[in-house]
Amino acid sequence: SSSSSASSTGCSTAAVATGTANNAPPAKQSAKDYIFGKVIGEGSFSTVYLAKDIHHSKEYAIKVCEKRHIVKELKVEYVKQEKEVLNILNSNQNKTAPFFVKLYSTFQDNERLYFVLSYAKNGELLPYINKVGSFDIQCTRFYGAEILRALEHLHSLGIIHRDLKPENILLDERMHVQITDFGSAKILDDKPRPQPRRRDGEQSSWQRRNSFVGTAQYVSPELLTEKSVSKSSDLWALGCIIYQMVAGLPPFVARSEYLIFQKIIKLEYEFPDGFEPKAKDLVQKLLVLDSTNRLGAKDIGNYTSVRSHHFFAGLDFETLYKQTPPPIY
Ligand code: ADE
Repeated sequence: SSSSSASSTGCSTAAVATGTANNAPPAKQSAKDYIFGKVIGEGSFSTVYLAKDIHHSKEYAIKVCEKRHIVKELKVEYVKQEKEVLNILNSNQNKTAPFFVKLYSTFQDNERLYFVLSYAKNGELLPYINKVGSFDIQCTRFYGAEILRALEHLHSLGIIHRDLKPENILLDERMHVQITDFGSAKILDDKPRPQPRRRDGEQSSWQRRNSFVGTAQYVSPELLTEKSVSKSSDLWALGCIIYQMVAGLPPFVARSEYLIFQKIIKLEYEFPDGFEPKAKDLVQKLLVLDSTNRLGAKDIGNYTSVRSHHFFAGLDFETLYKQTPPPIY
């Protein structure tokens, strides 16, 4: 739900430093602690700016949501959910979550909510796929593996992303994956949490469950037919993304969302000639209509059966973040 604009560079607006007494408790940050620069992402409910911390000159991506807009569009729950997921990912017990955007702080003013996130210098994965037409097998393997590792981590925390797509997969300065946009994520409750009292403009979880659809091309068939999602819905999306890295386009394309959905529920897609056979075999094992029969769906803990697919033969999943990603041409 975000797309980047890579136009002008640098930051402009001047900001005034906020003085805090030495003995005062750490003050909540405000927009005045940052110099806002260019827009680096735009969704329907937020704008992401490149921003510089005035104290340390460090760059961040600040996601700004207009309160009036999210209340009017009934997205209050989505924004809360995003913050909760980012907090879980950033909590001390989960200190090694290299494949995710990090949340540094949040604050608000009368009109807006602010999420201070790590800035993924190389932006979205999508333009890289589009620019080169398609990835070679080395690249597809590496990025497929990093996304799989990210899903292992997310799912181990009981979180389903539900909107995984190449626009939500960002690349840091070393070209490693940083997954973002948890506004559609679902936190599975093993221990039921107390239901917060609803305010105006909020939807009940029932309303949310029954109104959500991710991005058409990557939506799993079970969401369309049963309105149900599970961890393996993200594995379906992974299958779509691996297909897209190899073929250049996602597997299910059509003139309208409706026609895309028709194709998805009938598993109507084809492999172009020359599609690498090991990648084809993996995609065929992920793009399975019955979510319980997808490769990995029955794994406990890590996605061992996906890791050990011959497409990934020889790849060391434990040291991915230390490896130098293969160049994209
Ligand atoms: N676009 C949206 N979020 C971003 C981030 N955290 N870094 C870079 N580009 C982005």
